[in-house]
Amino acid sequence: MSERDARETLIEAARRARENAHAPYSNFRVGAALRAKSGRIFGGCNVENSTYGLTVCAERVAIFKAMSEGERGFDAIAVVTDAGTLTPPCGACRQLIWEFCGDAEVVLANLQGKQEVHRMSALFPKPFDASHL
Ligand code: THU
Repeated sequence: MSERDARETLIEAARRARENAHAPYSNFRVGAALRAKSGRIFGGCNVENSTYGLTVCAERVAIFKAMSEGERGFDAIAVVTDAGTLTPPCGACRQLIWEFCGDAEVVLANLQGKQEVHRMSALFPKPFDASHL
């Protein structure tokens, strides 16, 4: 599969995961899809609750799903919303994407077909990680 087709597949998985978003408080629905080096793709959506603060972002749901299934080693994550300005991962998610995916590709897309590709090293340039311990 070409790199471009692989990205489209990942975006489509994130779009599908977004359908399951539970966002009654913000009404901001997010889908993510995480690609393992094995080729498996794990979807995630944001899951809100009445505390607001205990909300979990789509990206972290995808990561925890994959880790809990025993998957290790990831090379790309896609994030899809319906926003005109594409939605980048929040700070907490960047920390965990760096931890588990390293310098992965981050594909941002919206429902209108707008797309951007970034690398984690650009989005999260001076991370705290295990190398500091
Ligand atoms: N959200 C995500 O799921 N991922 C992001 O990258 C940005 C924010 C969610 C959290 C919350 O449910 C809603 O979007 C508004 O912040």
